[in-house]
Amino acid sequence: MSFISNASLEVADSEVFSIIEKELKRQTNHLEMIASENFTSPAVMQAMGSVFTNKYAEGYPYKRYYSGCEEADAVEQLAIERVCKIFGCAYANVQPHSGSQANAAVYAALLQAGDRILGMNLSDGGHLTHGSKPSFSGKNYSAFYYGVELDGRINYDKVLEIAKITQPKIIVCGASAYAREIDFKKFKEIADEVGAILFADIAHVAGLVAAKEHMSPFPYADVVTTTTHKTLRGPRGGVIMTNDEEIAKKINSAIFPGIQGGPLVHIIAAKAVAFKEVLDSSWREYAKQVKANAKVLERVLLERGFELVSGGTDNHLVLVSFLDKPFSGKDADTALADAGITVNKNTVPGEKRTPFITSGIRIGSPALTARGMREKEFEFIANKICDVLDNIEDKVLHAKINKELEELAGNFVIYNQSTY
Ligand SMILES: Cc1ncc(COP(=O)(O)O)c(C=O)c1O
Repeated sequence: MSFISNASLEVADSEVFSIIEKELKRQTNHLEMIASENFTSPAVMQAMGSVFTNKYAEGYPYKRYYSGCEEADAVEQLAIERVCKIFGCAYANVQPHSGSQANAAVYAALLQAGDRILGMNLSDGGHLTHGSKPSFSGKNYSAFYYGVELDGRINYDKVLEIAKITQPKIIVCGASAYAREIDFKKFKEIADEVGAILFADIAHVAGLVAAKEHMSPFPYADVVTTTTHKTLRGPRGGVIMTNDEEIAKKINSAIFPGIQGGPLVHIIAAKAVAFKEVLDSSWREYAKQVKANAKVLERVLLERGFELVSGGTDNHLVLVSFLDKPFSGKDADTALADAGITVNKNTVPGEKRTPFITSGIRIGSPALTARGMREKEFEFIANKICDVLDNIEDKVLHAKINKELEELAGNFVIYNQSTY
């Protein structure tokens, strides 16, 4: 008799099943507006839960260390071909377990310990892995930073000035909390002027880039990374891309055996499924709607007297600043959560509070857009956000709004009972 139970999760482990049920309920009833989150399709989740989780496939397609990798080869090759087609590049590594792993591999491939990198300040919208001190990227390398001006925008002349002084080996562009389009061409000119490698981390805007709704990092960047779970709507994971064969070879060695062991073949299969969705003609419409919905957030928040970092948005998120308000980003985050809206507190340029308290929040449109919400719903939600922020201590109002928004959410089903 087999030792493997074929019981369903519900029967095999009712505790975990019940926690997952509750999480599904939370995701369904709340309005998910964290800019880095999204909903994958059941097809993506099915691939994630597939038998590929059982397979060791150290190495790369057709060059593996273990036998029995024929199907792993096929699915990884498919993922590579699809992602190269999406972004118009020649080489891709689809094995990074996350965006941070992808970024770690880029540095490991192209730098020696102590080499200089120049990235965007964490407090101005950069990511931890762009040279922040608590991260390996700030510990293992000598990191310097550019930021945004008080108007909330990158000043490219200033980036050049800093690059000339610091002479970095790599310039990192891309951000976690920047509402304006990133000009990869200008970054390339800066990199060329100081002889640096240009590394674009498009984790946040990849889904928009795929739809030509944001400038592409190709042909400007020498190496590009992305996560697959944000605007790309795929499984949690990372990808590294390049057009340079030498860089591609170094990246492959840096991922395996450099910083990872066996690839997560089930996740690679799910990445392939997500990439097929991105290649579908409907993707353009999704990405356009993500931007259109963010524009509604921009308009309503401005009309209702709130300050937006950089004055608005070109992408999928807005950053609201409370520098002139008596309450913090943390207060706003908590009040909105009570009202059924999930956002995250965020530092803003000119920040005076700590990173745990902050003076801002980041609000994104990708997840609710994936649920099918459009301008009408975003207008309603944006006004509710303003109502909460205008009455930050009114818990009765927050509870009332929570009920109204739960009703709205109920009209936008994410998953059928049988598909999670
Ligand atoms: C720009 C950017 N790069 C990299 C990452 C890291 O991705 P992960 O959380 O998958 O490690 C993030 C995540 O928020 C990000 O915003």
